[in-house]
Amino acid sequence: MIIGIPKEIKNNENRVALTPAGVAEFKKQGHPVYVQMGAGENSGFTDEAYKIAGAELLPTIEDVYSIAEMIIKVKEPIASEYPLIKKDQLLFTYFHFASSEPLTHAMIECGAVCLAYETVEKTDRSLPLLVPMSEVAGRMAIQEGAKYLEKPLKGKGILLGGVPGVPPAKVLVLGGGIVGTQAAKMAAGFGASVVIMDVSLARLRHLSDIMPANVITVMSNHYNIREAIAEADLVIGAVLIPGAKAPHLISREMLKLMSPGTVVVDVAVDQGGCIETCTPTTHENPTFIIDDIVHYCVANMPGAVPYTSTLALTNATLPYALQLANKGWKKACADNEELKKGLNVANGKIVYKGVSDAWGLPFNEVETVLQSELQLN
Ligand SMILES: NC(=O)c1ccc[n+]([C@@H]2O[C@H](COP(=O)([O-])OP(=O)(O)OC[C@H]3O[C@@H](n4cnc5c(N)ncnc54)[C@H](O)[C@@H]3O)[C@@H](O)[C@H]2O)c1
Repeated sequence: MIIGIPKEIKNNENRVALTPAGVAEFKKQGHPVYVQMGAGENSGFTDEAYKIAGAELLPTIEDVYSIAEMIIKVKEPIASEYPLIKKDQLLFTYFHFASSEPLTHAMIECGAVCLAYETVEKTDRSLPLLVPMSEVAGRMAIQEGAKYLEKPLKGKGILLGGVPGVPPAKVLVLGGGIVGTQAAKMAAGFGASVVIMDVSLARLRHLSDIMPANVITVMSNHYNIREAIAEADLVIGAVLIPGAKAPHLISREMLKLMSPGTVVVDVAVDQGGCIETCTPTTHENPTFIIDDIVHYCVANMPGAVPYTSTLALTNATLPYALQLANKGWKKACADNEELKKGLNVANGKIVYKGVSDAWGLPFNEVETVLQSELQLN
């Protein structure tokens, strides 16, 4: 199968969908790879490195779309890319169809096959192609929080780990999933005194078993949160309720309970945030202050560390992309339930319920579409 890697053109997107190591893997398995010139430069991968790995470099995005049978990307195609996509072309990328009606219609009309990273799902219901970005954001939350605790950045002027004879900072992590676990682990590594809260007792039991001694687990409820924020120097918002907006666990009124210079990093801001006063910010202007509390609310945190994020994402996507290339999308999806769940739009038909529900468009059972496609072969 001919693979195409365009340069990402969405604003501020610095990642690339395949590293030179990934190119070498495709080549080893007999698939030619065409990479747009400069596609990897913002992630730290040069054209030369792609060439050495065996890729052919093409000057324009049009060249890549016109030659490739499978396009591997990071972000959903934007409007200027729609006319480049061909019927039957396979697109493997983040789509988030439920947040864009024009994208949904464009992909139906062009007749492409759209396999969305965010809906590839394992039998335990985990989302293997979202996990790496939560890992990056969780770890980064502590790095950013530690920075904004510095006085010149309007924080309390507390060093996260303290020093001998001086106590460390107190970190409160709301939500003990992927983001929360990674944040708690990083904060503990810095030597901070960490409290992690979740509503799942099973999750708290697990965290209590695996976390170091400077992390304690506490049940998440209104009473405990009120007590903990009064003590905390840094609060990390890492709550997720699948398919719903994040609950506002810290209301505007509760900010008064916190001491001036406390930093909140609301990683869950992309789902509405778990601190009421959080609204999305950008890497150019990441923080704002309300009631003397420093709010960091960047909605695409992994974008600031494209080298790490690209490697983390491609570690997770490559095994699936190789299956698609080796077997073709029909057989790969028929053989692998995880990939089948990633199918959102196939040859003009919506095959993912959440997408048809979002826009009131007809839904087609993925199994029916897949079987009829396999019979056509
Ligand atoms: N800002 C960014 O750049 C960025 C990057 C990656 C992920 N995220 C977001 O971070 C959030 C967390 O993602 P995740 O992968 O860790 O999700 P996850 O599903 O792994 O974890 C969420 C946790 O929240 C817990 N929870 C639910 N309600 C709670 C409550 N009331 N109190 C305490 N805990 C509660 C759940 O039990 C679960 O353990 C999501 O909104 C995700 O979209 C943001």
